[in-house]
Amino acid sequence: MPDVPSPKPLVAGNWKMNGLSESLAVVEQVAAHLADGAGHADAMICPPAQLIAAAVRQVANRPLAIGGQDCHASQFGAHTGDISAEMLADVGASAVIVGHSERRADHGEADALIRDKAAAGHRAGLTGIICIGETAGQRAAGLTETVALRQLRACIPDGASHTNTVIAYEPVWAIGTGLVPTSDEIATTHGAIRRELKSVMAHGDAVRILYGGSVKPTNAHEILGIADVNGALVGGASLTAEDFLGIFAAYG
Ligand code: PGA
Repeated sequence: MPDVPSPKPLVAGNWKMNGLSESLAVVEQVAAHLADGAGHADAMICPPAQLIAAAVRQVANRPLAIGGQDCHASQFGAHTGDISAEMLADVGASAVIVGHSERRADHGEADALIRDKAAAGHRAGLTGIICIGETAGQRAAGLTETVALRQLRACIPDGASHTNTVIAYEPVWAIGTGLVPTSDEIATTHGAIRRELKSVMAHGDAVRILYGGSVKPTNAHEILGIADVNGALVGGASLTAEDFLGIFAAYG
C-alpha cells in the first residue's frame, strides 16, 4: 500500500488578462454546477487579480478554488504594480500560478525567480502551480524532456511537497494554438517529470502533474486519460462555463 493516496486530479482555469466584473457570472455557473456534486476532480479558476476577492465571495464555500496568476517574491515593498502572495492569500486565493510561459516571455522571468515566487506562495500558505515546457524550437531540436526537467529542477523551491506544489507541463507551442502533442509524447514527458519528482521529493508520486496547451472539451477525455496526467491547466477554454465544465466532465 502506498503511504500517500494517488493524486486527485485538478482542472484549473487560467483566465490570463481576460475578465471584467460581468465574468463573475462564469464563476457562478461553474460553482453552481460543481455544488451539485459533479466530478472526481478538484476545480480552480485563476481570474485576473482585480476579480479575485469578488470571485472568492462568489464561490462561497462551494467546491471551486480561486487562484492568482502570478505573485512577487517579496512579501511587501516598493514594487509598483506587483502583487504579493500574502495579498492573494489575504483575499482568499488558495493557489498561485508561477512561471507561466507568457510571464517568462513578456517579463523575462527566469527559473531562479520562478523558484522564489513558488517559495513566496508557500510562505503565504498557497499552493504553487509551477509551469514548465519547451518552445517549438527546443522541441524541433529534440530537447523537450531536457528542457522540462531542467526547468523543473530549477523552479522547485526547498520545502516543496505534494501538498503545496502542482506542476503544469505546458509546451509553449501548444498554448493557444490548437496544437497538441501526441498522447505518446505527453505520456513520455509526464513520465519523465514523475520520475524526477520521485527523485527530488518524498512523495513525488503524489504531486499533481497537469497538462496545459489547447485543452478543450473535444480532446480532454483523451488527454486526461494519459498516465501521469493528473489534470489540466486550461486557458482559452476556461473562459466559458460550458467549455470549462465540458473539460471537467472528462472525470465523470
Ligand atoms: P490554452 O492556454 O488552453 O489557451 O492553450 C493554456 C495555458 O496557457 O495555461
